[in-house]
Formats: sequence, structure tokens, C-alpha cells
Amino acid sequence: MYLALLVFASAGMLTSALDNGLMKTPPMGWLAWERFRCDIDCDHDPKNCISENLFIDMADRLSEDGWKELGYIYVNIDDCWSAKERDEQGRLQADPKRFPGGIPKLVQYMHDRGLKLGIYGDMGTYTCGGYPGTPLDKIEIDAQTFAKWGVDMLKLDGCYSNVTVQEQGYPLMSKALNATGRHIGYSCSWPAYQGGLPPKVNYTQLGKICNLWRNYGDIQDSWDSVLKIVDWFFGNQDVLIPAAGPGRWNDPDMLIVGDFGLSIDQSRAQMALWAIMAAPLFMSNDLRTISSGARSILQNKMAISINQDALGIQGRRILKEKSGIEVFQRPLSNNASSLVFFSRRNDMPYRYQSSLSKLNYTAGSYKVYDVFSDTAVTLKDSTDFVLSVNPTGVVMWYVSAPAKPSLHQFYKTGKFQAEDQNAIPYVIV
Ligand code: GLA
Repeated sequence: MYLALLVFASAGMLTSALDNGLMKTPPMGWLAWERFRCDIDCDHDPKNCISENLFIDMADRLSEDGWKELGYIYVNIDDCWSAKERDEQGRLQADPKRFPGGIPKLVQYMHDRGLKLGIYGDMGTYTCGGYPGTPLDKIEIDAQTFAKWGVDMLKLDGCYSNVTVQEQGYPLMSKALNATGRHIGYSCSWPAYQGGLPPKVNYTQLGKICNLWRNYGDIQDSWDSVLKIVDWFFGNQDVLIPAAGPGRWNDPDMLIVGDFGLSIDQSRAQMALWAIMAAPLFMSNDLRTISSGARSILQNKMAISINQDALGIQGRRILKEKSGIEVFQRPLSNNASSLVFFSRRNDMPYRYQSSLSKLNYTAGSYKVYDVFSDTAVTLKDSTDFVLSVNPTGVVMWYVSAPAKPSLHQFYKTGKFQAEDQNAIPYVIV
């Protein structure tokens, strides 16, 4: 009987999961697309063109400027890396002029530094930029090529394909990657090509075959674009939240912090809301020239540890006030949580008044850490607080578990005192 159960259980596991054990927390790293697009003009723009030098430069920055230690370990190539033709054996090949060492050289470079390399493909006849795609009959050979090169992640886009091809191709690539025996993180753009919502999109199935997926349109370097994405993801949160969990993440697209479109407040807002969403944190910026302001937002340890919380529960918008303040919350390990107060106002800092009990917290006293000002206070659920939220900015909190009155303390001191079980976990400080 016991044996039968075991066999049954493991058979179930084999058929129902992308069995690569990867990305139990949202993946973090750098991705070329938003900032560097399809710049292949290395003669005139050698620093910024899609070439092995660009990825080497970013790898150097990630490993030398404190990013890697914080979890930013993926260096991901996007579109326009390949030659326009496959080789004689039908395999994809990197453009020999821009990638003279081929992809294996880059893989080696990353692995030598404790980083990982991601690559880009497309489940159709061409990539969005017009490079060779991966039609159904090329899935196996491409999975094998990527595995042979030692690649760690694949983003599979969906240009130049249709519903039927996508329905067959995305699961087939999942199987083909697993069959290589190499653990390759799998990012599927499939839902973004089908409107991102059920019944056209089946999130239960996606969670079984992909580690992450783009649900929605491309981010651009503007606050408008961030807002559009935020509106869509939180507008559809009831559908999206259950889809996410360890090993399977909704992907609202890259972080544009450090580029040209966001103010410091807006950059904090993107970082905070991406952390609440348990979103993959792929920066698309120039790490060689990034400002210290943008860097300190992207390297904020508390924001990162909220994003990386082991429970992997995607947070939600819990309040939309008439004043234009919105409140977001994400449950975290150790009975803690994160709150984000976000202002949609365009006038001046707004003084928002509330209390933890108004935000549905249970009775008790809480330690509250302000993520971007690096300050802490103890707050009783019933105490009213007022906080100042900048226009298009956020205040982000880590809220500890409530401390309960302890009998032990009572016998020792004759007074009820809160136990210090609301101390901040070591990982965060
Ligand atoms: C699509 C994707 C982008 C990027 C480009 C490349 O638009 O959504 O993220 O990969 O293709 O051409």
C-alpha cells in the first residue's frame, strides 16, 4: 500500500510540474531589452550595441558593484543576438561579428563569476526583431543547443505565431528543456499574446510548465508605462495572485529604475510595487553609469528581502482612497507583512492618516520599519499614524508579527509587556 502510494505520488509529480526546482523566489538580474533594444550598430556605437562586450561589461558591474551578493545574478540576452541564418546543422548561432566567442564563451564568463546567463528565443517563425524563431519542428534542437551551451534561462517570446502553435509549442519547449537534463529557467511570453486573462489563458497550466511569464505589454522608459502596468496587474489581481507561488511568477516586465523616465520617487514606487507583486527583478539599465540614487533604490536590502520572501505570496491592493492614496499589502514569512502607501496625486506630499486596525491588522503591538528612510517605530494596532506620501511616490513598510502580552513577563514583573517576538528577521537588517 505504502509503495503504491509512493509510486502514485511520484507519477503525479512528474506529470504536473516543471520539475526544474528553480526560481523558488522571483529571479533577479539584468536584461538587455528595455535599455539597449536591438542596437546592432557596433561600428558606430560599440559601447551600447548588442554584443558580447555589453554582457561582459554588465557581468563585471554585477559582480564588482555589490549586485550579485544581493541576488542579482542573471545576465540575460534578449532579441537580436543571433545570426540571420541557422548553421548547416539547423542550429541557432550567435552573430559571429558581435559574439566572436559564441554564447559558450559568455556562459563561461558568467559561471566563473557566480552569475548565470539567460538567452532569448521566440515560439514562432521569427523573433519580434526579425531573427530566426523556433517553430515547432525546431523546439528540440534549440533546447539541446541552449543546454549544450550551458545556458541557465530561456525567455521564449511569441511573435510570428498563433494560438494553435503557442498551445503546442510552450508545453513542448518545457518538456524539451527538462529532457536536456540541464536546469534552465523558463520564461513564457504566452499569456501576453493571449490577453493575459482566463479563459484564454490557463494559469494552472502555466504554473506547471513555466517558471515565470509575461502577462502584459512591454514596459517603456516612462512613468505612464509603469502606471499602465500597475493598473493592469492590480486591476486583475484576483486572477493573478493565485497563479503566483514559489517557482511560478507573474512578470510585469523589467525595472526601468536608473534609466531616463522616472524620478527618484517614481523609482521607489516601481521598486516597492514590484516587491509587493513578487515580481522578477530584472533591471534594464546601464550599470556602468547608473546614478547613486537609482543604485541605492535597487540595492535596498529590505525591499529586496520583501520581494524575495520565501512564502512567495503575491500581494494585493487593499484600498483605493478618494484622496488618490492607494494601499497595498503583501503577507510575508514569520507572520510579518509589507504595506505600501502609494500616491496618485500630482500636487504635493499628502498627509495620510490611518491605523493598523483600520488596515485590518489584529490587536497587538507591531514593529514597523520604513524601507526607504531606514527608520523603525513600534506601533499599536489602535494608534493613529500620519505619513507623508510624495506625489507619484510611496512609503513602504515592513510590519513585524504582532507582539502578544506574555505571561512569563507578567510573573516576572507583575506587568503585561509585549514579548520581543516582533524583532526584525536577521536577513533584513
Ligand atoms: C517583445 C517582448 C520584449 C522584447 C522584444 C524583442 O516585444 O515583449 O520584451 O523581448 O519583443 O524584440
